[in-house]
Amino acid sequence: MKRLCVVLLLMLGLSLAGGTAAASGGESHKYVGAKKCKSCHKKEAIGNQYGKWSESKHATAFETLASDKAKEWAADAGVSNPQTDEKCVKCHVTAYGVAAELLSDRFDVKAGVQCEACHGAGKDYRKKKVMVDREKAEAKGLRPKNEMEKACTACHNDESPAWDAKRYSLADGSTAGFDYDAAKKKIAHPVPEGYDAMAESGAD
Ligand code: HEC
Ligand code: HEC
Ligand code: HEC
Ligand code: HEC
Repeated sequence: MKRLCVVLLLMLGLSLAGGTAAASGGESHKYVGAKKCKSCHKKEAIGNQYGKWSESKHATAFETLASDKAKEWAADAGVSNPQTDEKCVKCHVTAYGVAAELLSDRFDVKAGVQCEACHGAGKDYRKKKVMVDREKAEAKGLRPKNEMEKACTACHNDESPAWDAKRYSLADGSTAGFDYDAAKKKIAHPVPEGYDAMAESGAD
C-alpha cells in the first residue's frame, strides 16, 4: 500500500522536496488523513465535524480540478492537466510536497483539503487522552488557533486563479480578498456546548 501511495504521488507529479504553499516548515508529525479522524469526529454528540467537512467544498477540491472551469483556467495558465500539475494541485490537496515518509500508508491525496491541511499533521495528537487537552495536543502537532489564518492564506491568496474570477464577479469591481472571520463561519464545525468527552466511551 505504501508503494502504491508513493507511485500515486509520483504520478501526480508532486515534488517530494518540501517548500510548498500549504505545508508549514519544519514538520515532523505524520499525516494520517480525514478517515482517521472520523471514528470520533463523526459522532453527533461531538458535532460531527467529519460529516460537515465531507459535505464541504474542501472535501472535493481535488475533483474540482477535473471540471470544465478548471480546464479553462488551466489552459490560461499553460497547464495541460490540472490534476497532475503542481501549479494547481498544490492548493487542492493536503500535505502537498511533504516528504513521503511523513504520509501514513493509507493517506489519500485525492481526498482534497482534509482536516490536517488546517489542523496540522495528526498522527501524534489524535489519541483521545491527548485530544481532550488542547495544550498537549498542540505540543504534538495540533495547530494553535492563532496560527490558523496563516494556514488558510497559504491557499486563499492571489496565486489562485479563483481569486481573479471572484473579483470579476463582484458588481462594484472591488477585490474579494480573504476575510478570515467570514470564511471561518462558512466552514464552521464547532463542538456543541456541554459536550463531555469523559462521559462517553469509545476509541482511544
Ligand atoms: C480517539 C478519538 C479522536 C480522534 C481519532 C480524533 N479526535 Fe479530535 N478530539 C477528540 C475529542 C474527545 C476532543 C475534545 C472535544 C472537546 O472536549 O471539546 C477532540 C478535539 C479536537 C479538536 C479541538 C481541540 C480543542 O481543544 O479546541 C480538534 C481541532 C480536533 N479534535 C481535530 C482532530 C483531527 C484533525 C483528527 C484527525 C487527525 C482528530 N481530531 C482525531 C477525539 C478524537
Ligand atoms: C494558491 C492556491 C491555489 C492554486 C495554485 C490554485 N488554486 Fe484553484 N482554488 C484555490 C482556492 C482557495 C479556491 C476557492 C476560492 C474561494 O471559493 O474563495 C479555488 C477554487 C478553484 C476552482 C473552483 C471555482 C468555482 O468558482 O467553483 C477551480 C475550478 C480551480 N480552483 C481551479 C484551479 C486550477 C485549474 C488551478 C491551476 C491552474 C488552480 N485552481 C490553482 C486555490 C488555488
Ligand atoms: C479548511 C480548514 C479546516 C478543515 C479542512 C477542518 N477544520 Fe476543523 N476547524 C477549522 C477552524 C478555522 C476552526 C475554528 C478555530 C477557532 O475556533 O478559531 C476549527 C475547529 C475545529 C474543532 C473545534 C471546534 C470547537 O468548538 O472549538 C474541531 C473538533 C475540528 N475543527 C475538527 C475537525 C475535523 C475532525 C476535521 C476533518 C474532518 C476538520 N476539523 C476540518 C478549520 C478546519
Ligand atoms: C490546502 C489549501 C487550502 C487551505 C489550507 C484552506 N483552503 Fe479553503 N479552499 C481551498 C480550495 C481549493 C477551495 C475550493 C474547493 C472547490 O471549490 O472545489 C476552498 C474553498 C473554501 C471556501 C468556500 C467553500 C464553500 O463551501 O463555499 C471557504 C469558505 C474556505 N475555503 C475557507 C477556508 C478557511 C477558513 C481556511 C482556513 C481555516 C481554509 N479555507 C483553508 C483550499 C484551501
